Amino acid sequence: MTEDQATDVLYPVPERLLDPTQCPEPYISSMEQYQEMYRESLDNPDQFFGKLATELLSWSKPFHTVRHGGLHHGDVAWFLEGQLNAAYNCVDRHAFATPEKIAIIYEADEPNQSENITYGELLRKVCQLAGVLRARGVRKGDTVAIYMPMIPEAAVALLACARIGALHSVVFAGFSSEALRDRIRDAKSRVVITADQGKRGGKTIETKRIVDEAVKECPSVETVLVYERTGADVPMTKGRDVWWGEEASLHPNFTPVEEMNSEDPLFLLYTSGSTGQPKGVVHTTAGYLLGAAATVKYVFDYHPGDIFACMADVGWITGHSYIVYGPLALGATTVIFESIPTYPTPSRYWELIAKHKVTQFYTAPTAIRALRRLGDDWVKDHDLSSLRVLGTVGEPINPEAWHWYNDKVGKNRCAIVDTYWQTETGSNIITPLPGAIPTKAGSATLPFFGIDLAILDPVSGKELIGNDVTGVLAIKRAWPSIARTIYGNHQRFLETYLKPYPGYYFTGDGASRDKDGYIWIRGRVDDVINVSGHRLSTAEIESALIMHHAVAETAVIGAHDEVTGQCIHAFVCLKPGVSKGPAHATDLNKELVIQVRKVIGPFAAPKKIYLVEDLPKTRSGKLMRRILRKIVAGESDSLGDISTLADPSVVEVLIAKVGSS
Ligand code: WTA
Repeated sequence: MTEDQATDVLYPVPERLLDPTQCPEPYISSMEQYQEMYRESLDNPDQFFGKLATELLSWSKPFHTVRHGGLHHGDVAWFLEGQLNAAYNCVDRHAFATPEKIAIIYEADEPNQSENITYGELLRKVCQLAGVLRARGVRKGDTVAIYMPMIPEAAVALLACARIGALHSVVFAGFSSEALRDRIRDAKSRVVITADQGKRGGKTIETKRIVDEAVKECPSVETVLVYERTGADVPMTKGRDVWWGEEASLHPNFTPVEEMNSEDPLFLLYTSGSTGQPKGVVHTTAGYLLGAAATVKYVFDYHPGDIFACMADVGWITGHSYIVYGPLALGATTVIFESIPTYPTPSRYWELIAKHKVTQFYTAPTAIRALRRLGDDWVKDHDLSSLRVLGTVGEPINPEAWHWYNDKVGKNRCAIVDTYWQTETGSNIITPLPGAIPTKAGSATLPFFGIDLAILDPVSGKELIGNDVTGVLAIKRAWPSIARTIYGNHQRFLETYLKPYPGYYFTGDGASRDKDGYIWIRGRVDDVINVSGHRLSTAEIESALIMHHAVAETAVIGAHDEVTGQCIHAFVCLKPGVSKGPAHATDLNKELVIQVRKVIGPFAAPKKIYLVEDLPKTRSGKLMRRILRKIVAGESDSLGDISTLADPSVVEVLIAKVGSS
């Protein structure tokens, strides 16, 4: 069977999930029920989401207006007049009801160092840190930067900000000091929360040192709060740097929450777009929290007593929604995993599942592909019987990886949910539902409640009606957890998402709807690259490379990679007079990789660098990345019309160069 034929097979909901003697009854247990609820969510959104928001969230003041504004004017608002606090919803209400219930399982880098934190303990930790932040002058509406390893205190930091109405701006701890600096500056953060060091896969990461470097050039920062993860002796700047533990112990176990309006911002999170400048995507309190909670409930079919394990990093949106806010809003037990899937052995995930009796497991296709390559022995002989739902996120999953996940991990008795969404969407928007939607290997299947999908002709912007169509993916109306703006730049928000196709939210992804109405995500149509599920812009990497003294010009593209999905290839033209001899070229290659690591972070390093004389450009000087992509993909025979190039002979030279390296 070819891959295409294989992908058209519909896999029914595993019988086990619908057998009440084996599993809790799914909230949505048939396709008809899904369709009925989906229809209702579009036909009567006020009623549908009003009810959901009342059921899933606790309000200190009820809302009256469910929806307001929309995509036409970029003035989306939900649950107006209502007041609530996200930390109260994620911590207090569960700490009052079930103080001894485990909120967080911390699976430390070293497997024998795990710890459990109850809701009662979490409340105390969050309150004490909120006290510290208030004492340091942080007020409602201020932003706090968080640069932390994957430890429970990262979640505590988010929730402490939410408690006092400060916006957290988490910066993934894989970013370099320069990238951190730019994000602290853009958000004007006055406080940075960090740790002395991080631990990952047995290695030590000098977290505080990176923060020190970054903060040197951030005059807004008054306080650096340092959690003692390893107890290493790190330099502390007097008056600015304070120890988390010491400060927290000075504050009471309880401090009241700040009542927030539904539309008050909860956080910002930087993400990459088509330009070099990262965008601080802003989410607001009620809509975001509802999206996160509703999808944990329905997409992961979360039931009380379940153990929810999302392997993402809290530095990305997946960590925000599916490690912290979604599971905790429902009073679940959530796992915080500090390590990597291959430490100390490639059985780590499976040991974690067996040890903690995980019921929902959520990871990225890149991890599945990497583990599959290492062979089935690592996954055999672990007790994975607790699992019910296996999720994937971040990039399209190829059918081979999907089948391996389904067969070897899920033993064909779990639901596989391939969840499509983005930083900007806040929560899953296209996804199967475990008890209801039959799956196809590699398809994100059908829209979640309230998501009014459209596939548009990319040129005319006209909606492509019916099945068997391919175009760009857009959404016709606002849903609760859609981002509201870009921090400090609403105009850019409108221009990026709402103006390309007026009246629609534009995702930036290409997609097809197949003959059964199932959605297949085809990948980005803009200059965004997805490496191991990490979102990067070509312009961001190009501007890092151009800062190197030898570089005159550069073009970066995403190329296919068996494990990471895409990888980065960079074409670099050197300045006149720079030696290009082979010995020098090796050094330059290294320097250029270091350059990108320094400006962005190790995860953005190019896999291949080609030193070239010239780049393909049109007569008006526009860079034709499309041609470079084709050459690298080995599709030089289908380059299309190259006569518009200023110098078509460049192409031959590039083909030879790529072929020989
Ligand atoms: C891609 C991550 C295919 C997509 C939650 C999107 C996916 C970008 C999937 C957002 C999926 C995410 N199938 N592609 N299931 N999930 N993507 O903002 O290109 O880091 O636009 O959010 O990842 O990346 P972001």
